[in-house]
Amino acid sequence: MKNSLFIITGASKGIGKGLAEKALDTGAHVWGISRSHSIEHQNYKAITQDLAELSNLQKELPQFFAEAKAYEKIVLINNAGTLGDIAHLGSIKNESIPMLFDLNVSAPVLLMNQFIKDFKDFSGEKVIINISSGAGKNAVDGWSGYCASKAALDMATKVAAKEAEMDGSGFVIKAIAPGVVDTEMQTQIRSTNKKSFSGVDKFKNMKEENQLSGEQEVAEKYFHYFDNLAQYPEVMLDVRNL
Ligand SMILES: NC(=O)c1ccc[n+]([C@@H]2O[C@H](COP(=O)([O-])OP(=O)(O)OC[C@H]3O[C@@H](n4cnc5c(N)ncnc54)[C@H](OP(=O)(O)O)[C@@H]3O)[C@@H](O)[C@H]2O)c1
Repeated sequence: MKNSLFIITGASKGIGKGLAEKALDTGAHVWGISRSHSIEHQNYKAITQDLAELSNLQKELPQFFAEAKAYEKIVLINNAGTLGDIAHLGSIKNESIPMLFDLNVSAPVLLMNQFIKDFKDFSGEKVIINISSGAGKNAVDGWSGYCASKAALDMATKVAAKEAEMDGSGFVIKAIAPGVVDTEMQTQIRSTNKKSFSGVDKFKNMKEENQLSGEQEVAEKYFHYFDNLAQYPEVMLDVRNL
């Protein structure tokens, strides 16, 4: 029996990469799922997958987690996400809308569904973490799809956690928000014009004033939660509350 396995979507950069590197530092094995990869490590398995291509994902899902059953602890982290096209409704490129919901909502819910199916009777530790955002709770102009998708993922997380409790299935299921983290997603936000997103200056100021967290710093905070999950009964968590 091997030790811990972290299955992390969007492990090639940003928050997902920080989480993958931290998991590897602890001696865990990591499966990273993204379109590209930037980690080379003997315990890192690169799974190249466009998670917005749902028909491919669905074909692969039945056998996706088969080898994970060799581990004592399995953590699925649904992290990959996109802001999509930042613009007010009426100016958004139509083709960007389904892709955003496929990646931010359908892919993580499909992965959760298969994970719960496959590990129902697994007696080891089994954890699902969805990367949440304040945008799922607050209406931000220019971010309609992103806000709606994060609200949907939050609700899917709450339902999954409620069902796990009702079924006594032993899954720990949480949505954890990272705060504002200095990744490519933030670069995209700062490159927007005010007409598309009125709050752009706030994000530019935060960057200038060094108020953004780094990927490693935020990964440490996530691992504080992972190591102390029993202390945090809430389903919805935020690393800024640590
Ligand atoms: N940064 C923040 O301030 C912030 C705040 C709140 C919440 N979040 C959330 O945190 C998560 C990570 O954000 P981030 O800032 O780290 O973003 P990021 O730097 O843009 O990284 C996104 C990751 O998702 C992967 N990804 C994107 N499209 C994909 C696709 N179609 N298929 C598979 N993988 C895909 C990317 O890998 P490839 O390009 O290699 O596929 C990359 O590894 C997201 O869910 C985001 O909503 C971020």
